[in-house]
Parts: sequence; C-alpha cells; structure tokens
Amino acid sequence: MLDTQAIRKEFPILSRHVHGKPLVYLDNGATSQKPLAVMQAMDDFLRSHNANVHRGIYTLSEEATALYEGAREKVQKFINATSVEEIIFTRNATEAINLVALGWARQNLKAGDEVLTTEMEHHSNIVPWQMLVKERGIVLKFLPAKAAEGVLDVAQLDAFLTPKTKLVCVGHMSNLLGTVNPVTTFVEKAHAVGAKVLVDGCQAVPHLPVDMQKLGADFYAFSGHKMLGPTGIGVLWARKKILETTEPVLGGGDMIKEVTKAGASWNNLPWKFEAGTPNIVGAIGLGAAVNYLTKVGMENVWQHEQEITRYVMPKLLAIPRLKVFGIPKASPERGAIFSFWIEGMHPHDIASIFDEQGIAIRAGHMCSQPMLEVLGQPAAARVSFYLYNTQAEADVFLNAIEDAKKVFGI
Ligand SMILES: Cc1ncc(COP(=O)(O)O)c(C=O)c1O
Repeated sequence: MLDTQAIRKEFPILSRHVHGKPLVYLDNGATSQKPLAVMQAMDDFLRSHNANVHRGIYTLSEEATALYEGAREKVQKFINATSVEEIIFTRNATEAINLVALGWARQNLKAGDEVLTTEMEHHSNIVPWQMLVKERGIVLKFLPAKAAEGVLDVAQLDAFLTPKTKLVCVGHMSNLLGTVNPVTTFVEKAHAVGAKVLVDGCQAVPHLPVDMQKLGADFYAFSGHKMLGPTGIGVLWARKKILETTEPVLGGGDMIKEVTKAGASWNNLPWKFEAGTPNIVGAIGLGAAVNYLTKVGMENVWQHEQEITRYVMPKLLAIPRLKVFGIPKASPERGAIFSFWIEGMHPHDIASIFDEQGIAIRAGHMCSQPMLEVLGQPAAARVSFYLYNTQAEADVFLNAIEDAKKVFGI
C-alpha cells in the first residue's frame, strides 16, 4: 500500500488551487507532476556543479560527467538493461523511436520489407514508419485491434508475420485504453520469423515494473517527463549488438573518437548516438525520478493503480450514456487510464467544465487517431491516474461527470 498522503506532500503543485478548487490532476498520461527530489537534483546541479560533460579536465566538469553518467546507470538498473552502453539519452520517446527509424531501419530495410505496427499505437509509433514507406518503399502493416474487448487481435499475429517482416512495433501500454499488450508473445513470434521488435514503453515504464531481460525485445523507448522526470529527456534502450553495427544518425561533437579532414571514427557506445552537448540537467532530473520511483517501488505503484481501477471502473460502467473504452473491468492487463465518451457531450466541453472544478483531464484524439477510428469515435475524454492520485480524487471526478450531465440536461 502506498502512503499517498505522504507522497502528495512531496509534489508541490498538488497543493495548488485552480479556479478556487483544489487541483485534481488526472492527465498523467500526457505528463506527470514532479517531486521535490527531482527539482532539487536539477537545482543542485545548476547551482553547484554546472559544466559541460566529457570534456574538461577540471573538477566541475568531472562532477558534471559523473552526475550525467550516474543518471544513465540509474536508468540502466531501473529497467534491468545489461549495460549502460545500451542506454541512449534522447529528447523523448518520439525521438527514440525516430532514432531507430532513421538509423537501424534506414540502414537495414529495403523496398518491399515489412514493418508491422498496430492499430493501437500512439502516432509516434506510426508516423516514423509511414515516413519510411515514402522514403524507402517499405510496406507498413497494422495488426488489428478489437474495439469491444479493447485488446489487440493477437490471434492474427501469425498471419501478419511473414519472412519479409523485419520489424514489429508495439506499445507496451496503450495511452488511449490503458491496455497492457502481451509484449513477450510479440517478441517470441517476431523473432521466429527473424524480425526485430521495438516496444513503445512510454506508458509502461512510469507505471509498472519493466525488465529488459524478461521482455526480450530489441528496442525499447520511453520519456522522462511521464515518470516524474523533466521534459526534454527520453531513453532509447537497444541491444548492444545492434547498436554496435548501426551507424550514427547525427554527427558532431562527442559522438566521435577522432576527426581528420579525410573523415571521422565513432565514439564508443552509447555516446556514438549522442551528438553534441546533451541535456545534462534533464538526465540528472530523470536519475532523481528513477531514484524516487525505486524508493516507492514499481510494484507498489502498479498495485495502487490497480486498486484505483477496481474502484473507478465499475462506477464508470454504471453511468448511463457513458461509454468507457478498453478492457471493461479491472485486470492485470489494464492500467489506470480511462478514455470515455458521453452521449450528447463533446469531450472538449467535458474538459472545460471539469477545469472549472479544478480537474485536469485530456480531451481530443490523444495522438491515437487510428485506434479512435477502430472505436468509431471522433474523439474521447481521458483521465489517467498516477501514484499520487487518491480515491477521493476519483470521487471528485465521478461526481463531476454527474454535474456535467446535469448542465447538459442528460
Ligand atoms: C504510448 C506513447 N508513445 C509515445 C508517446 C510520445 O511521447 P513524447 O511526446 O514524450 O515523445 C506518448 C505520449 O503521449 C505515448 O503515450
């Protein structure tokens, strides 16, 4: 059990008011709030250790390098990667996925090769592959999702995988439905046809224990800002063997070993893929976020969200004229993300009415237009919970739905 009240005290923003009401922040799928420990780590770096990394032979720079590389080690341990060489800092998950598309995929895929993604993906795990269709003539396929069940049609996976499949891209947890996909099944089946697997872990790493050894994928992408860290820092994990044989995408300082007028040789991993001055303070903030989550325990975070789901889901299902998407019950295959539609009310109106009551939720297409199309929805409203959200906040949200329905006379 999490001590939610103690946790809340460590997030200064949670004590603010919006429109005179206590803030109820339920847009964690978009970004999370930050604990003092993260702010303090970044503040301490800027006040006392700021210098560029990997360059100066002086104390500050050595300290900055140790803190930056220390953050990498924390991330490595957090996701149980075998080595820090496999942890590449990027700006966000989007950049991490694009790094695979622009690097490994561009260097290894040719016209006619197939990439299999799914209808449930965030746009970040669709658009980079569509760009490769245009540029390289690869074939992009979509594994269907089942609207009523809120899951991928895994039974069709065998039929979609062919000897031409070179890459399978799948989200670990859906940002629209909260569905936790059976990644290891994807890995097993994809590897059996010789394809690599890229997992978009953006919604999974912040909410459940994630272990690179157990998953067995080849690439794994996530963002720092959804897991209590700052914006502007993300991670691409990839197998060392793959990274070793992949050419860098960006050239410049830090990613080279030696430069002559005739050419350049590349730095060791992971720096080969980190051209230019990195987001040092962002990485340090992410390191502090990882420490924080480790201290709380990811299994505890996940159990807390399961408990919220057990509380919220039946209540949502009981509201007339409200459709909630995704697996229609609390389940280990489902996180605490609830997208819904109320007949007769546009999601933007719901979000505006909620805002008046201090409740922050997301409305719109959630960067998941193909999945909304499967659901036959133009848009949706979404609430997404995290470790600091309480049952009392869930009640505020549930009561707000009733109030909003009254405003609309439905
Ligand atoms: C499942 C998923 N993938 C990718 C992204 C993109 O994350 P970012 O905007 O931090 O790159 C998000 C963000 O909403 C997401 O939920």
